[in-house]
Amino acid sequence: MKIRVLGTAAGGGSPQWNCSCVQCARARRAGPPSWRTQDSLAVSGTGDTWYLVNASPDVRAQILLAPELTPRPGTRETPLRGVLLSSAELDHTIGLAVLREGAPLNVYAPPAVIGALSSAFPLRDVLAPYADHRWHAVEPGDPLRLDERLVVTAVSLGDKRPRYARGLPGRDWVVAYSIEDEVTGRRLVYAPNLASWPEEFDKAAAGADVLIADGTFWSDDELRRATRTPPRTAPTPPRATVMGHLPVAGPGGVGERLAALPGGRRLLTHLNNTNPLLDATSDQSLALASSSVEVAADGMVLEL
Ligand code: MLT
Ligand code: MN
Ligand code: ZN
Repeated sequence: MKIRVLGTAAGGGSPQWNCSCVQCARARRAGPPSWRTQDSLAVSGTGDTWYLVNASPDVRAQILLAPELTPRPGTRETPLRGVLLSSAELDHTIGLAVLREGAPLNVYAPPAVIGALSSAFPLRDVLAPYADHRWHAVEPGDPLRLDERLVVTAVSLGDKRPRYARGLPGRDWVVAYSIEDEVTGRRLVYAPNLASWPEEFDKAAAGADVLIADGTFWSDDELRRATRTPPRTAPTPPRATVMGHLPVAGPGGVGERLAALPGGRRLLTHLNNTNPLLDATSDQSLALASSSVEVAADGMVLEL
């Protein structure tokens, strides 16, 4: 299995267009090589055909920077065959609107996510006259064959809905994807949004050769502390856990959970632009480095 990490930032990217918090200001000073696009991954069994996990608003730039995703000679010969959606969040779906221009694409998502994209955020219907997107419902626990080598299984991560979809029914609003290469027997688990750490997910994570998990916030109150510039008129920003992200630090945090898993490589993605892990010299980065957990990077290539 071939993997290219396309983006590793949470919604807004790093730096964020309207922000000069400590981390955004540092990223601007460091310049474009240090910048991070919004989380997405490209995966392939053979290297001939590719699938994205999530379609970020940055997908066009991400594809242009990925040699594996260069169109073959001809006019519409993209090796991209489909997109798996792990949630209906804007930062995971808006890229579908960028992927038009006549290439047929398979879109895989849990029924609740397809429901949201056919109602509260009707991307599916809006795009129908522009793009040949073929939608497929993914049920957690039901293995799905992607190509001649890759089999993917969704693992439910619960019912955390996007803000725009608060009133909508359904379950399995957020999933992780466990992707296995039948030839090498090796397995990737991708989980950029972890509101909790369910038992089923723990089982899927335990034997993974590579696990890439939610590293949005270092601490639960990070957003309110990083964006607090008195006098304050704006509403107090929510806690990480309220936003659907277990923090990395602390008891039961993603860092501790990852470090406790047997074997395999463990990486963090979907980092918010306020996260001190974006600064490799911060105390938090040094603390993480002493565990076996890494921070994923845009453009990172892995082979399993
Ligand atoms: C999230 O990951 O919690 C969402 O994408 C939030 C957002 O970007 O507004
Ligand atoms: Mn997000
Ligand atoms: Zn910022």
